[in-house]
Amino acid sequence: MNYGAIPTILPASMFLILGLGSAQAQEMVGDPEAGAIFAQRVCATCHIVGGDWPANPRNPVPAFEEIASTPSVTPLGLRVFLNSPHRNMPNLILSEKEVDDVIAYIMGLRGRR
Ligand code: HEC
Repeated sequence: MNYGAIPTILPASMFLILGLGSAQAQEMVGDPEAGAIFAQRVCATCHIVGGDWPANPRNPVPAFEEIASTPSVTPLGLRVFLNSPHRNMPNLILSEKEVDDVIAYIMGLRGRR
């Protein structure tokens, strides 16, 4: 038994019990596999969508794994981002399902490294 893990497991389970975890889960209704295909087709023109990160540090476009591993990034934040106009990203018009899928895909990349 690794007692050192308890301080990290306990707050995490409290989080789930308090229902905040399920609010997060509700934001994750998409299909990550469809999201991966969509991202390769539409987002990969600019973003590194799959592996190969870290890539060129001078590339101003964040890799999807980089986005996923940023702790402040949440499914809701991504939803807001993808539904609002941006300066440097062309205003891609995504359907509701495409947004859901691509969010599920990006969040699924979290913690892969
Ligand atoms: C024409 C190039 C281009 C395409 C295509 C593109 N992006 Fe981006 N994206 C950018 C640039 C440049 C930035 C960084 C500047 C900014 O935040 O506006 C960015 C930033 C982002 C961020 C924000 C990261 C952060 O720091 O908060 C997300 C999320 C994102 N893109 C998702 C997507 C998704 C999903 C797609 C496909 C549907 C996509 N992008 C397609 C250029 C692009």
